[in-house]
Order: sequence, then C-alpha cells, then structure tokens
Amino acid sequence: MTTGNDQKATLSYGDQKIELPVVVGTEDEHAIDISKLRLESGLITLDPGYGSTGSCSSSITFIDGEKGILRYRGYPIEQLAKKSTFLEVAWLLIHGELPKADQLADFTSKVTHHTMLHEDFGRFFNALPKSAHPMPVCAAAIAALATFYQEPETDQKVEETIIRLIAKMPTIAAYSYKHSLGQPNMYPSNNLDYSSNFLHMMFGTPCDDYEVNPVVAKALDMLLILHADHEQNCSTSTVRMVGSSRANLFASISSGISALWGSLHGGANQKVIEMLEAIAQEHGSADKFLQRAKDRDDTTRLMGFGHRVYKNHDPRATILKGACGDVINSLGGSSQLLEIAMRLEEIALNDDYFIERNLYPNVDFYSGVIYQAIGFPVNMFTVIFAMGRLPGWMAQWREMRADPAFRIGRPRQVYTGATERAYE
Ligand code: SDX
Repeated sequence: MTTGNDQKATLSYGDQKIELPVVVGTEDEHAIDISKLRLESGLITLDPGYGSTGSCSSSITFIDGEKGILRYRGYPIEQLAKKSTFLEVAWLLIHGELPKADQLADFTSKVTHHTMLHEDFGRFFNALPKSAHPMPVCAAAIAALATFYQEPETDQKVEETIIRLIAKMPTIAAYSYKHSLGQPNMYPSNNLDYSSNFLHMMFGTPCDDYEVNPVVAKALDMLLILHADHEQNCSTSTVRMVGSSRANLFASISSGISALWGSLHGGANQKVIEMLEAIAQEHGSADKFLQRAKDRDDTTRLMGFGHRVYKNHDPRATILKGACGDVINSLGGSSQLLEIAMRLEEIALNDDYFIERNLYPNVDFYSGVIYQAIGFPVNMFTVIFAMGRLPGWMAQWREMRADPAFRIGRPRQVYTGATERAYE
C-alpha cells in the first residue's frame, strides 16, 4: 500500500478546504484516508452498511466485484480450488505464503493431534436441547473453549489457539449434529485427512465401518477452500471489531459464527435449499417464484442471489455450479433441485429486474445443492460455511492485531434524537 503523496483529495465545506491523503492499493484501488477528518474539520462521514467505507488495509484477499475476481494472497480462487487442499489454503491465508512441504506436514500433524475435545465437553453438549440449531451450539462451544485454555495471550499462545480452533471446529460441528440425533459422538481419527475425518465424525457410528467416499471428501475440501476468506464481509468485520477490544481469539471467532448465521449472510445457503424445495413442491414454478422475488411489496427474495461487492458472477458460484453435477452424478443423487436452481439462474440472468441491479448467483446459490447431495442436513450448511471461513477469520484477526495502526474500533454517529429537556 502506498500513500499517494502527490495525490490528495480536497474536501470543500463552507469556508473550509480540507486536504486529505489518498491511499493507493497494490491493485490500484484508491481510497481517501479520512482518519484525521474530524480532528481537522469537526466533520465525520456517514455510511450505513459501509458501502463506500474501507475499515482497513489488508493483504489477505482481493476481490474485484466488477470483474468477478477472487484471489487469496494473490492466487486465483479457480487454481486453489482445483489444485490445493483446505489445510494448505489455511496456511496460505494465515502466513501469507504457500507452505513448504515440511511446514505443511508439521501443520497437518499438529491439527490432526489437536482434534479431540476435553472429556468435560460432553456435559456441555448434553446440557443443550436436542432441537437446538447447530450454529448457536458451535458459537457457544467455541466461546467455551476459552474456559479450557485461559493462559495469558502471547504470540505463541495465539499460534496454538489457531491450531486448536482449526482442529476442533469439525469435532464440535459433528458433536452438535450427533447430539441432535441422540447418537454417540464419533471420536476423530488420526488416520484420516481433514475433510474425511469430518465426514467420519458426522456419518460414522460405533456400529458400522463407515467408508469415506473420496469423491465426497474432495468435494467437501473444495467447498471449504471456496469459503475460506472473503475480505471484509459482515462476519469478518465482526471478528475484527471484537478482536480490536483485545478480546481473545475464541471470543472473536464465536462472534463471527453468530454474525455468519444471519439469513442475509452465511445463513442464506440454508434458505436457498428451503426455497428450491418449496418451488419443487409447487411443481417447479420458478417463473412464479421470481415474480414474487421482484415484487417490492413481497418480502420474498431470490436467496443465493445478489452481493454487496460482486456486480458480476461470484467466481465461487461458477465453480460450485460445475462441481454440482460431478458430485450428484458420482453419488447417484437426485438433480431436481439443481435443475430448478439452474432454471432460476437462467430466467433471472435474462430478467431486467436482476440485470438492472447486477444480481448474480453468489456462493450460497449452489453450495447447498452439493451439501444436500453429500447428505448433510440443511441446518448444518452454515456450520460448514463457518468451518471453511475459520482460517480467513483468524488470518484477518491476526493481521488486525499486528497492524502498527491497531486501535479499538469505535465508529461515530449522527445523533437525531431529542435535544436537551428537563426532567419534571
Ligand atoms: C454471503 O459480503 C460477503 O462477501 C458475503 C459472502 C462471504 O463470502 O462472506 O459472499 C457470503 O453472505 C453471500 C450473500 C448471501 N445472501 C443472500 O443470498 C441473501 C439474498 N441476497 C440479498 O439479500 C442481498 O443481495 C445481499 C444481502 C447479499 C446484498 O445486499 P445489499 O448489497 O445491501 O443490496 P440491497 O439489499 O440494497 O439490494 C439492492 C437491490 C434492492 O432493490 P431496490 O431497493 O433497488 O429496488 O437489489 C434487490 C433489493 O431489493 N435485491 C434482491 C436480491 N438482492 C438484492 N431482490 C431479489 N432477490 C435478491 N436476492
């Protein structure tokens, strides 16, 4: 990042002329640095939803919403999805470079040997209702990890926490699912790779020799890669904000899980499947559904469509659309929901309402079709999104803490309430 010294922005207001520095990123993004604006002019800016406001400089993920580009540390998502593994991508996001063979082997071994939960955790799950949605269970369980690891925060301890969270998140997710079924937990196996181990804990039981399907494990690993980071989205900004108060990494990640649960964010993948199933039950009336999604008086939305940043195809959706067919064919599942999704996309992409608003399929539009083909229950979809996003959240948190300009996040406001009045 360079502060374009010869580039200044001048703000004229009343008799004031305020000169502000311009920051230029490595992809030639220009930003006006307003950090001194209030000091110099008494003015603040207002941007509900932060559509035009950058919260930080970051070297982790680059998105070009107009061109549909997504890169992790400079590597195009298409290449990583095709050639890398989730743990390799996790290392890349957190450390900034692809790991050397010995680094990846050591990282993988450390993750593998930290997958178990303290036996006292069993009482934690049993205290929760079986009908509980797994997202609040996971958010609470991740926060509860802080009660087992309470050492003072040092760089070394943060590195250990990163390993523990990546290792234990699949175990917590699987245990929350098993609890909902009333089935015994499946302990993690040190003989399986990351994604296979999660499938083993999810679908294995002590009564059978569950065999992991390598096609499914590979598809899941790719899904985790596609969800691994996405710069300053709602949940990542939440993780940064909570971490900026010097709350520990467990608490910060727990808050990110809660933010991701919202139906406008990570919760959309569950809503997409529910939407596709509703259309299927109404005998596939995609056209009728889209009329409702366009009706301002109807709260119906085409879930999995639209994005604050992408005003072109979300590259992750394009990759997932291609993978859907492969996974469904290899599993011999039904492609009815995929066909409805593709029909919805085809109609929407040729409809003025969606064209005028630059609404395209986002990552959530096709991911649910694959999750369902694999056999995950719908309420686990966002949990798997959180598993994928975990290394991205931690990379962003770590970058924020290491920033020399690090300070607690505390936005301003414009007060519009009652002026002073006496209490009589
Ligand atoms: C994720 O930020 C990230 O990077 C997120 C994410 C990540 O990896 O972290 O990519 C993951 O959260 C993907 C988004 C998942 N959410 C959904 O699929 C929910 C459905 N989509 C929307 O609710 C919406 O598109 C958002 C929330 C994604 C974006 O909202 P914005 O940017 O605030 O846009 P908006 O709501 O102001 O919409 C602009 C216009 C409006 O119409 P007008 O008022 O101009 O007439 O587009 C319309 C909206 O009504 N619109 C839709 C629509 N999305 C926007 N109309 C119908 N169906 C939709 N899906």
